[in-house]
Amino acid sequence: MVSTTQKTKETIKPHGGELINRQVKGQEREQLIEEAQSFPKLTLNPWSLSDLELIAIGGFSPLTGFLGEKDYVSVVENVRLENGLVWSIPITLPVTEEEANNFEIGSSIALYGEDDHLYGVLNLEEKYTYDKSKEAQNVYGTTDVDHPGVKRVYEKGNVYLAGPIQLVDRPKHDEFSDFHLDPSETRELFKELGWKTVVGFQTRNPVHRAHEYIQKIALESVDGLLLNPLVGETKSDDISAEIRMESYQVILKHYYPEERTRLVIYPAAMRYAGPREAILHALVRKNYGCTHFIVGRDHAGVGDYYGTYDAQELIAQYEDEIDIQIFKFEHAFFCTVCENMTTAKTCPHDKSKHVHLSGTKVREKLRNGEQLPKEFSRPEVADVLIKGLKQN
Ligand code: ADX
Repeated sequence: MVSTTQKTKETIKPHGGELINRQVKGQEREQLIEEAQSFPKLTLNPWSLSDLELIAIGGFSPLTGFLGEKDYVSVVENVRLENGLVWSIPITLPVTEEEANNFEIGSSIALYGEDDHLYGVLNLEEKYTYDKSKEAQNVYGTTDVDHPGVKRVYEKGNVYLAGPIQLVDRPKHDEFSDFHLDPSETRELFKELGWKTVVGFQTRNPVHRAHEYIQKIALESVDGLLLNPLVGETKSDDISAEIRMESYQVILKHYYPEERTRLVIYPAAMRYAGPREAILHALVRKNYGCTHFIVGRDHAGVGDYYGTYDAQELIAQYEDEIDIQIFKFEHAFFCTVCENMTTAKTCPHDKSKHVHLSGTKVREKLRNGEQLPKEFSRPEVADVLIKGLKQN
């Protein structure tokens, strides 16, 4: 952990200064729904729908819509919007050339989900083609199609539609309704709880002992922990959000102080863009009102595409500008001699004394109904996972 500076401001400002809200309500909403009946229609996949939602609720502040070409090029090339504000992942709406031909610049498009429900409207300002290999290389650091994020880039349509959006209905997250708060709501919640400093934790995995260790070290120096698991699209071998959410509740109940922790979903899709995604994750958590954010080992990584601390090194270059403090952690593990969670910074013992389990090994054990070593996972969590995976 490198940074220990405390933010003492009443509330942290959203990225760009203003929390965006593109949700239309009441009369205005009724009218837009009515008008949308005559707009050309576009069906969004779950990934684009989650981007639409995050723009509308302010998670992606300062974005008010899908990126236009100048912003897109600037983000891909310089990790900044055209106005110079740090932004690391292009938030775009891809369509095929055929689809793009249905839409005229200056018109409105009705945005539907795959459930054929109208969720929002896009005011089309631009359509543009883009360089896929450049996007892959700059954003994901590779053009290898075995990388799940890069695979997506090559699979998606060749044209991006851009312009401001409005949201008429929220995508439902019924299964997680108790944990579904928008950035404006988490900001209120932190005020009510009297938390002046809050550390955000991104995860797409069940919380294991290393997660718990780094979260609790961080919690020693701030008022509260926002456990903010990503519940949008993930790659097929990741453990499902439903099972994970159950495991988070169990670990919080048994091992965390109730008054200093909150569980809230982050309804985004996982990009696996490592260093670039770590920056996005931090900016989004700032929008949710966090003053601090954890970046540990191989944050948002996949396979061997990124070095263990690449994400920490990249985010460090922008730390002065992004106005959220980054807690950086070494790779943590259990040492059987120390009889404790530790890292290479604090443990003098040989590697053979350390308990390591790869994600693949963990999933294999769980699918076989085997308990995980208690040095790796809390038994209550492993129980939930074994049960959940059996039912799947
Ligand atoms: S992520 O793709 O959402 O980053 P994961 O859920 O595994 O994956 O990690 C959540 C956070 O915990 C990330 O900041 C990651 O760097 C950190 N982390 C995961 N495992 C460890 C570990 N053993 N030691 C230190 N940090 C870790």
